[in-house]
Amino acid sequence: MDANGPLPDIERPVALQFGSAFEGRVVAITGGSSGIGRATALAFARERARIVVGDLNEVGGRETLDAVESLGGEAEFVRCDVTEPADVDALVSRAVEHFGALHVMANNAGIGTYAPLLEHTPEQFDRVVKVNQYGVFYGMVAAGRAMRELQIAGTIVNTASVFAFLGSEGIIGYHASKGAVRLMTQAAALELAPYGIRVVAVAPGIVDTPIIAGYKARGLDDSLARGQMRGKLLSPDAIAQTIVWLCSPGGDAVNGSTVLCDDGFASFKT
Ligand SMILES: NC(=O)c1ccc[n+]([C@@H]2O[C@H](COP(=O)([O-])OP(=O)(O)OC[C@H]3O[C@@H](n4cnc5c(N)ncnc54)[C@H](O)[C@@H]3O)[C@@H](O)[C@H]2O)c1
Repeated sequence: MDANGPLPDIERPVALQFGSAFEGRVVAITGGSSGIGRATALAFARERARIVVGDLNEVGGRETLDAVESLGGEAEFVRCDVTEPADVDALVSRAVEHFGALHVMANNAGIGTYAPLLEHTPEQFDRVVKVNQYGVFYGMVAAGRAMRELQIAGTIVNTASVFAFLGSEGIIGYHASKGAVRLMTQAAALELAPYGIRVVAVAPGIVDTPIIAGYKARGLDDSLARGQMRGKLLSPDAIAQTIVWLCSPGGDAVNGSTVLCDDGFASFKT
């Protein structure tokens, strides 16, 4: 054994080795029925947080709850359309009523829409902005109000994208929405700082989730993978780990920032 004691067992969640800053904390996650949201639910559950998942997809939500429960965790599901402010309010209310608090709000639900600029319809643009941008706005307001009321210095974490930093073809509405998430994160952080609440965002590169199924179906796996420096799609869990860290005491210095977790996507081009 060295002077600092044994090295941690990296196969075991930190919580099981040293106790967790999230023990008993309450975490609400939109879009938690799939992909990054589900991985985030599981990552927080491993840290012994209590989870409330909000999503349109009830079957996927049940699978997430089962996975959390199989880790010995506690979770609730609320059917929630993030484009409806009343639904988002109801998600936050469920967390407060059922678990008595709200420490983390992950505004993660999102969709993609592909169409070249000159073929992009108003309906496509409207839909992606409603889910990705308005949904985050509603989530920040609902969570901020609850945390202020409960006097909890919690963390709101939004899911942006590497495409909040870079332009690409065919996703103008997605760019509009994710660029907005990035700047709303800065503005909301400023307004919620007096309550001790931090607001941060993650900007993933290309992550292997159902949202990229359309690209995969067109055989674009390799070119998507090459967007990352190490030539692989990111795992949902890698993004979830960044989210957990940002909400942890270790992430306390980060506020208003959108943190790239993109394996270098935004740092190079070939
Ligand atoms: N996968 C990627 O490459 C990637 C990259 C950057 C950012 N993101 C962002 O990550 C977030 C999660 O996406 P993912 O990759 O896990 O995709 P996903 O499709 O696996 O998960 C998205 C979830 O959001 C839910 N959802 C969609 N519309 C909703 C609505 N109106 N109300 C409530 N829930 C709704 C879906 O049912 C689904 O469970 C999104 O904001 C996405 O834009 C993904």
